Amino acid sequence: MYSKRIDGRGFDELRKMEAKIGVVESADGSAMFKIGDTIAIAAVRGPRDLHPKFMQNPKRGTLRCNYNMMSFSVDERIRPGPSRRSREISLVTENALMPAVNLSDFPNAVVDVFVEIVQADAGTRCAGICAASLALADAGIPMRDMVCAVSVGKVGDKILVDLNKHEEDYEEGCSDMPVAMLPGRDEISLLQLDGKMKKEEIAEALELAKKSCEKILEVQRNALMEKYKNG
Ligand code: CDP
Repeated sequence: MYSKRIDGRGFDELRKMEAKIGVVESADGSAMFKIGDTIAIAAVRGPRDLHPKFMQNPKRGTLRCNYNMMSFSVDERIRPGPSRRSREISLVTENALMPAVNLSDFPNAVVDVFVEIVQADAGTRCAGICAASLALADAGIPMRDMVCAVSVGKVGDKILVDLNKHEEDYEEGCSDMPVAMLPGRDEISLLQLDGKMKKEEIAEALELAKKSCEKILEVQRNALMEKYKNG
């Protein structure tokens, strides 16, 4: 039984969110997305010519994502450099963003998205996707929709949203399901499951993810509006 969340939140309650555009001046677009104690910064470079040339696609531009957790983002120092985990998350981030961007006007070019996790308390791939989507919009990359992402899951006997690290480590069992959505198109672009859930539980969790993505979208939208308000 998981009758009360460790941090006192409701089961459908997200941690406090914050988003900011234009946090990396040297990038073509950038954003910070914070949810609870998880902080992601995304920087976009491009479109620019893709090298080596044999990797170019003459029909459309290429989206390339790199996810990295900074060494000091968790208590136990992380070894710098790529890992199996960071390669997997880079790939799923790319796939989660791809349906939202339209790179048909940029043949042979690449748009690079660098996601840096500055501070981690679970849900980093989702925070990274939220930041990356904002950074792409900030860079002026043509987009069909925003991408919102959140982790839902089952802790003990409860379906809930936005698990923190304590919940992910819950002794009596935890299933973690990161979801990314294109809210305007009602499409899912990322769905992973670490653990076990019944079919009905997955449906309930997906419904919760959809409602939560609407709240995330509002935070993203406000951040973009803030940028244009300030010229
Ligand atoms: O971060 P996310 O939930 O997307 O991915 P995960 O691989 O399920 O990692 C869950 C959490 O474990 C991270 O957010 C970190 O808080 C923590 N972690 C860690 O402490 N050390 C690592 N090398 C990797 C993850």
